[in-house]
Amino acid sequence: MAHFCIRHPVISFFVLMFLLFSTSSYASKIVEINDICKQTMKNPSFCLSILNSKPGGAKGADLVSLSQYIIDVARDNITNTVNLIKSLIIESGNDPKAKAHYETCLVHFDDESESCALSDINYTQELLKKGDYGGVNIAASAVQTDVEDCISGESPGDTPYHDTSKLPQYADVIKQVVDIILIMSNYLVQN
Ligand SMILES: *[C@@H]1O[C@H](CO)[C@@H](O)[C@H](O)[C@H]1NC(C)=O
Ligand SMILES: *[C@@H]1O[C@H](CO)[C@@H](O)[C@H](O)[C@H]1NC(C)=O
Repeated sequence: MAHFCIRHPVISFFVLMFLLFSTSSYASKIVEINDICKQTMKNPSFCLSILNSKPGGAKGADLVSLSQYIIDVARDNITNTVNLIKSLIIESGNDPKAKAHYETCLVHFDDESESCALSDINYTQELLKKGDYGGVNIAASAVQTDVEDCISGESPGDTPYHDTSKLPQYADVIKQVVDIILIMSNYLVQN
């Protein structure tokens, strides 16, 4: 171990840098948005544009306020989707199959008695405020399941409804936004 003493000044420099870095990232949980978006395999540029749409910019924003912002984006997207589904139900008046599909989707997106995308995103927000980041991850996963249940059917063997409306695109946007929440909650859990 003796030779460590010779390099003592160098080592303590690195130890100091490490301590400075780790304590500052612990305190404010600042993370490079590029690092977050690199993990969204499907569409990193969509991720970057959403994060950069944060008023005041995403750069230097801490992870909690960034997560808060993305949850707000997800809720807006879900609310838009609920409105779309409601109008699709009205439009599908004489197509019972379409009507049944959209009514099922409405249950998964907005229903008073069941877990649905809207209540699960609300719960995600509540848990973020409480600092329960593991819970944020679980609640955000539930939103993904709600969306999947609408688009692909509730059971693995279900044949997805062939939907030519804008609903699948809207659902895809929600899934990509919620993916960002999942990645950020993983960072928060690790810190
Ligand atoms: C989702 O939210 C983003 C950011 O507010 C917005 O640009 C986009 O148009 C929304 N999309 C849908 C389908 O609501
Ligand atoms: C979700 O939160 C919004 C805003 O706080 C509220 O208006 C809405 O009723 C909530 N919806 C559900 C299903 O919890």
